[in-house]
Amino acid sequence: PIRVRLTGVGGYLPRDVVTNDDLALKYGIETSDEWIRTRTGIVQRHIASCDETTASMAAEAARQALDYAGVDASEVDAVLVATATPDQVFPAVAVQVQALLGMTTGFGFDLSAACSGFVYALATARALMQAGQAKKILVIGSEVFSRLLDWTDRSTCVLFGDGAGAVLLEASRDGEEGILSTHLHSDGRTGDILYVDGAAGCASATQKLRMQGREVFRHAVVKLSQAVDEALAANNLTGQDIHWMVPHQANLRIIEGMAKKLALPSDRVVVTVDRHANTSAASIPLALNEAVRDGRIRNGDLVLMEALGGGLTWGSALVRM
Ligand code: ACO
Repeated sequence: PIRVRLTGVGGYLPRDVVTNDDLALKYGIETSDEWIRTRTGIVQRHIASCDETTASMAAEAARQALDYAGVDASEVDAVLVATATPDQVFPAVAVQVQALLGMTTGFGFDLSAACSGFVYALATARALMQAGQAKKILVIGSEVFSRLLDWTDRSTCVLFGDGAGAVLLEASRDGEEGILSTHLHSDGRTGDILYVDGAAGCASATQKLRMQGREVFRHAVVKLSQAVDEALAANNLTGQDIHWMVPHQANLRIIEGMAKKLALPSDRVVVTVDRHANTSAASIPLALNEAVRDGRIRNGDLVLMEALGGGLTWGSALVRM
């Protein structure tokens, strides 16, 4: 059998940091640090400048992942970018990343699953490898949600941030299995509780993010629980076997709810939502990058990832580092 290992991690955060107080004082949003912090755990977020694009951030995160693994870009067979905020309708961000990395071979494409995008991309990359289509794949989540936000809607604009995270996956025929299982779900009936409208050429589109926060919260708790149970059951494990949870970073209350369900102490849960806010498809690889580089997550650790986003889409992945 072909085994898929995660051999490199990388991340990029935009230069500009905007605190909750900045939103209230400099951006003139009728909000407060206290309101945002107590309901979401968010303290600050990074916001991209014009020169920080989805592709440029993705390429920087990818470079770091390649460096970490000691692999040259010319050895990479495929680039998958999970994003809801591509710089252009086409070419895909992944193809722009190929060019930025100097790649002249292999293939790349983008994948749209909103905040669950990274888990979807991980599952897709693993399947491509198991089908013998690629041996080394860069899986990237890169987002500039700040460009999708309605800055007059205080119930959404305070929740998101920009950034990119990347991992390198390598296939081999020996060694331990890295990606133990992935579990994907979507249900289009709930498309109207979290969405950005608009297709190219549609005059009435606002192309701004709209969300019914309470509804999303309600679905998140139920569906993420199911996705976590599914990952554990598929591998005959219990919450006690998990070394680390690296969840999508939308809201500290959702993250704490999942940790409680798994009976994981808080020091086994990687949290970045306080500093990054919700970076959509970038949040899991950004959190993974941080915890691997600071030595918390080590070789051999069992890592559970879970995410839910617009669609609704949701899923989980269990990875042996
Ligand atoms: N600052 C101050 N007051 C605010 C703000 C703000 N930024 N936003 C809303 N309010 C006010 C509202 O106007 C409302 O006032 P009212 O009672 O006078 O009408 C009050 O605060 C309560 O608003 P609610 O929306 O009911 O607040 P709630 O307690 O539900 O918290 C929140 C909102 C934080 C969005 C919560 O519903 C949530 O976390 N939902 C999950 C959504 C999420 O995380 N989405 C991310 C994308 S999906 C994903 O990645 C999982």
